Amino acid sequence: MKTVAIAMQKGGVGKSMLTRSIAVAAAHDGLNSAVFDMDPQQTSVMWRLRRAHLAQQLPVTDFVPELNLVDELERMRDAGCDLVVIDTPPARSSEALCAVEHADLVLIPCTPSIESYEQVHRTSKAARMAGKRSIAVLNLATPNSQTEARVSRAVFESFELEMAPVVLHRRAQHRDAGAEGLTAIDAITESKAKAEIGKLWTWLCSELSFQVNVAEGEGLR
Ligand SMILES: Nc1ncnc2c1ncn2[C@@H]1O[C@H](COP(=O)(O)OP(=O)(O)O)[C@@H](O)[C@H]1O
Ligand SMILES: [Mg+2]
Repeated sequence: MKTVAIAMQKGGVGKSMLTRSIAVAAAHDGLNSAVFDMDPQQTSVMWRLRRAHLAQQLPVTDFVPELNLVDELERMRDAGCDLVVIDTPPARSSEALCAVEHADLVLIPCTPSIESYEQVHRTSKAARMAGKRSIAVLNLATPNSQTEARVSRAVFESFELEMAPVVLHRRAQHRDAGAEGLTAIDAITESKAKAEIGKLWTWLCSELSFQVNVAEGEGLR
């Protein structure tokens, strides 16, 4: 079982969207995936409730308080879960630090803005102090613009922070899908949002050493 923490002190950068999209992409590829929502606002738990109309039971989504994280991870491992994605609260929360401590990999969503750049450094530092590999994911980039990716890459490099090779642009599908308890990747019709998440997931699979046989929809661990 692999555990990915999605952490970033700044709110509104796409932590919850990214958590859910990754967990759904994993489920679509035949993996048993779960979302642990450590944000007291329970954004992802509420998303899961809006998702109740789907036959698809995955990802299992639960609110997990900090005190229960270790036990809940153990429970998931025993239940044969392949991937737990942890959504964390904004601000300098002890929940986020706890998630980082227990993760195999930390993804740090970041928007192309000075306010985000200021905070990304703090989150990556926290991951480094916990001895965890962290990777920035540029989200909400302006479509058809290369400049923001270039600037962000330079900023991350100055923090010695890796950047995911896939950039997520501002796409209404993410927001609209969330309102329906879905993710861009749930949609039957193709969209740029879906394609970008698909590419990010493919990249993440290689980082986590998941071998996913997409043709059969069967995850091979
Ligand atoms: N790439 C994107 N394009 C369009 N809307 C996005 C994108 N990423 C996130 N959003 C929307 O922005 C809002 C904040 O995202 P959210 O994932 O809740 O951020 P956080 O969890 O970091 O506070 C949500 O309404 C979400 O649907
Ligand atoms: Mg959130």
